[in-house]
Amino acid sequence: LQVFETSEQASLAVAARIARLVFEKKEKGEKAILGFATGATPIPVYRELVRLHQEENLSFKHVVTFNLDEYYPMQPAADQSYVAFMRRHLFDHVDILEENIHIPDGTAQYVHRFCIEYEEQISTYGGLDIQLLGIGRTGHIGFNEPGSAPNSGTRLVTLDDLTRRDASAYFGGKENVPQKAITMGIGTIFKAKEIILMAWGANKADIVKQAVESDVSTEVPASYLQLSNHAEFVLDREASSLL
Ligand code: GLP
Repeated sequence: LQVFETSEQASLAVAARIARLVFEKKEKGEKAILGFATGATPIPVYRELVRLHQEENLSFKHVVTFNLDEYYPMQPAADQSYVAFMRRHLFDHVDILEENIHIPDGTAQYVHRFCIEYEEQISTYGGLDIQLLGIGRTGHIGFNEPGSAPNSGTRLVTLDDLTRRDASAYFGGKENVPQKAITMGIGTIFKAKEIILMAWGANKADIVKQAVESDVSTEVPASYLQLSNHAEFVLDREASSLL
């Protein structure tokens, strides 16, 4: 657990770790395999990565990314898609190669097959070096809602009512939020070499407390991270205030 005074300081530290990994891998002639998350939480991390690209020569040419999740159904071109989110906040501003970007396909017709292939693609690259996570107020990581199994893989899931309510502002009403999503599983996330869950602000303090201090339980999927020896919570002061 690491607590920073502000979310900005925490985000700079996380971005610096990612940049270091990318530089180190490049020196070895290897690619950095990064698991990315969406939501408001990682935005300052992406902002800093863009700055490092523009001002400090950080190149994404040897970076391969896999995003955690996507709504289903969802057109990639739609404003609310996680494809659009990643373009807006990161991919359009750096030199990443299109073929190295992977985001679950919200238009996949054969979803089950798509999910198996997504897992296989991650494995082909030798697994994720770093997986970034936010946390939803249901305790979800990715879109692994309460009830998710610890060994779950990438799959189609049904979103919790609270998750849809929290997303309603982006969709102009809860009724417009898709009922389903494709998400990496808890098992997929666990295979990453480093897992960094970030949370900012007082409205995350309660779920952070449950994730960190309550018994490990499917009721709070993020609590599974207690069982990992390579997972960290990176918090700002407010999100840590109930610990
Ligand atoms: C969505 C995403 C999650 C994210 C969560 C929290 O549900 N699928 O990956 O962690 O929102 O979002 P925010 O960071 O905006 O609080």
